[in-house]
Amino acid sequence: MTKKQEYTDDYRDKTLYIPGPTEVREDVLAEMVQPMFGHRMDRMTDLYTTIVEDTKEYLGTDNDVIILTGSGTAFWESSTLNLVDENILVPTCGSFSERHANVAERLGKTVDRLEYEWGQAVKPEDIREALETSDKHYDVVATVMNESSTGVRNPVEAIGDVVNEYPDTYFVVDAVSCLGGDYVDIDAHGIDVIFASSQKAFAMPPGLAICVVSDEAYDREIEKGTASWYGGFQRCLDYYDRKGQTHSTPAIPIMLAYRKQMKRMLEETHEGRAQRHTEMAEYVQAWAAEHFAMFPEEGYESKTVACIENTQGIDVAETIEQVSEEYDMAFSNGYGSQLGEKTFRIGHMGEHTVESITELTDAIEDVADL
Ligand SMILES: Cc1ncc(COP(=O)(O)O)c(C=O)c1O
Repeated sequence: MTKKQEYTDDYRDKTLYIPGPTEVREDVLAEMVQPMFGHRMDRMTDLYTTIVEDTKEYLGTDNDVIILTGSGTAFWESSTLNLVDENILVPTCGSFSERHANVAERLGKTVDRLEYEWGQAVKPEDIREALETSDKHYDVVATVMNESSTGVRNPVEAIGDVVNEYPDTYFVVDAVSCLGGDYVDIDAHGIDVIFASSQKAFAMPPGLAICVVSDEAYDREIEKGTASWYGGFQRCLDYYDRKGQTHSTPAIPIMLAYRKQMKRMLEETHEGRAQRHTEMAEYVQAWAAEHFAMFPEEGYESKTVACIENTQGIDVAETIEQVSEEYDMAFSNGYGSQLGEKTFRIGHMGEHTVESITELTDAIEDVADL
């Protein structure tokens, strides 16, 4: 049984290079320290409509946006409850896509996995084949855009184009660890549902989940007849339409931080942030090629999380510990027992820059004697 470890007042702050939470700017954090106000006050309508409409503008989407108190996991569950009667197809290529499949199973759905070796990307032609050859009707194809455990960026745009050929099959994308950093044209590729968590590439505190929902997905939930209450598309969006607020009490301080950060994101633009993330990804890939190797299949490397193969056999746990002790920087080991020491991961997302990432790679070089 886990014993209480008393939280104290004296922790040394670490610069976060983990795949989330990531660094949050001081002025964004400061927004959270304000006198509380009521979630049914006009001020709340101002706040919520501002962050919803700014998010739509940032993402360049005509679809609806829900900002829900909770984490991205909430939308694994609610998108399944809202859209899937029976069958869901989940290409699994790492731990998070596997968890998406597991969530659907726990909700009693019939899950067909399309299994990829970890490190490989999901291929649109495999999705086409599965949709064409299966004797089942799939209500949903659910794909992770950025598989944080392996550092793979799946081609959700091309997969979306395939799924769109099947009008009664909805396309759900888990973009938890890349939306806000990586670029995706949601509307052009018919992505019905795409969701993320605030603590990743949005560079906000954890506690909010962002979900973009197409009209078709909204209608499908109504036609289906049963849905999630908390994360029901209709409940969230109708409430927004009528009152410009959330159906239940939201994490107001985090929404205040969100407003501030989203203004910054609007200034930088979706394309601008994607460009900065591409530069960081390219920097880390070149560094990895010099000292180690990238783990993902070539051409499918993530823009926000580098998963680096430990070809030198360094002691990953020890290196992480020393970099933390000597440099106050935190980066991650490989995911789970499968990749624990075989890989390590650098989160280069949110407000990081090539310069700040270089500080980490310099520290790793120093500690691991590269
Ligand atoms: C790809 C992916 N999906 C889902 C999740 C779950 O997100 P959260 O912990 O914010 O619910 C994570 C968390 O790291 C993730 O990386």
